[in-house]
Amino acid sequence: MNLTRLVYYSQRNPSEDLDIKALIETCKRNNPRLHLTGLLHYNGDHFIQVIEGGRVEVSALYHRISRDPRHSNIILLSCADVRERMFPTWSMALHQGMDEQTRRVFLRYFSTDVVSPETVNVDTLLDVLQDLMMETPTKLTISV
Ligand SMILES: Cc1cc2nc3c(=O)[nH]c(=O)nc-3n(C[C@H](O)[C@H](O)[C@H](O)COP(=O)(O)O)c2cc1C
Repeated sequence: MNLTRLVYYSQRNPSEDLDIKALIETCKRNNPRLHLTGLLHYNGDHFIQVIEGGRVEVSALYHRISRDPRHSNIILLSCADVRERMFPTWSMALHQGMDEQTRRVFLRYFSTDVVSPETVNVDTLLDVLQDLMMETPTKLTISV
């Protein structure tokens, strides 16, 4: 069956507790049985998440996530059929923070290290996330 890839941007809700380790544990618990994979980038202020899998499963998870009070102002950046997964071995890779190495990757593709969800080119953003995944492995929580 077809694969779908969904990408969204959201802002952390500062009035809600956020335990990022617990969140990743939830992903590890739920995503493998639904054959979902992806990457979650969290820089302390906002999230960018890529979710890949079957159309129904991706859609259901996105609707669940969009009701989660730990973030707000969710903007759907893209949702499209794809030929293959970008993060096939990660039930949800986590990339956290904005250190120098991360900033360099953003500046390789963008004029600033601040992603503007209204205008960002999603294909370029996916290039950034793939590079982060390859070049900053210590920042990623393995989650196969
Ligand atoms: C930024 C963000 C990303 C999330 N990503 C996932 C995810 O990939 N998989 C998942 O099952 N839940 C994810 N959640 C949590 C869901 O919103 C929801 O709390 C969870 O799926 C409920 O699962 P449970 O019933 O097993 O506790 C995410 C939440 C936030 C705030």
